[in-house]
Amino acid sequence: MHLLNFLLLPLLAAAAPSLSLKRDNLCNLKTPPLLCTPNANISTAETALRAYRFYRAFVVDGDPKTMFSLIDSVYKQHHAGYADGPDTIWPLFCNGNKLGTEQSTSWCFVEATNMSYAQYSTTDRWRWVGGCAHEHWDQNETIPKSGCYKLNGTVS
Ligand SMILES: *[C@@H]1O[C@H](CO)[C@@H](O)[C@H](O)[C@H]1NC(C)=O
Ligand SMILES: *[C@@H]1O[C@H](CO)[C@@H](O)[C@H](O)[C@H]1NC(C)=O
Ligand SMILES: *[C@@H]1O[C@H](CO)[C@@H](O)[C@H](O)[C@H]1NC(C)=O
Ligand SMILES: *[C@@H]1O[C@H](CO)[C@@H](O)[C@H](O)[C@H]1NC(C)=O
Repeated sequence: MHLLNFLLLPLLAAAAPSLSLKRDNLCNLKTPPLLCTPNANISTAETALRAYRFYRAFVVDGDPKTMFSLIDSVYKQHHAGYADGPDTIWPLFCNGNKLGTEQSTSWCFVEATNMSYAQYSTTDRWRWVGGCAHEHWDQNETIPKSGCYKLNGTVS
């Protein structure tokens, strides 16, 4: 019995994160642990990489800490009924729900407009300023079919 536990417990512990639908429930916190500080010198390449990380955290990974670390303190909302600012939406995402897999969803960053997009059951659009998600739309959006920034092998 002891030997069985010894062999099985590490396996179960290792399997748990991928079986779990929720990765990181931070709802004990009333506000996001970390926000994005805009920096006008952030490059397009870095912004595109951040937009990809944001999509991963938001849609695929259910990682509210990383997600909000890429949102600035303004976060202007274009959705009637939602006030501006990251604190307003923190309760919606703090539980780390995943919205889809990378195969079942998509994302895009358009350099010419500094807009990123995520398509899952709906499509969201964000405008990036100073390397941070600054403004958000989620009604009647469509993901661009072309003109999406190509990340190089730096994405892990
Ligand atoms: C941006 O770059 C300029 C020129 O290199 C520098 O003077 C300035 O301090 C930088 N600003 C920030 C916020 O890093
Ligand atoms: C997009 O962001 C980059 C870097 O932050 C900036 O240099 C550029 O002017 C922005 N482009 C538009 C269309 O806002
Ligand atoms: C979205 O499109 C529908 C149908 O065309 C329209 O009635 C609605 O006003 C639009 N909503 C926004 C926020 O643009
Ligand atoms: C990817 O881009 C980064 C900076 O954006 C650069 O330093 C690196 O060399 C690039 N890697 C490849 C494989 O192109």
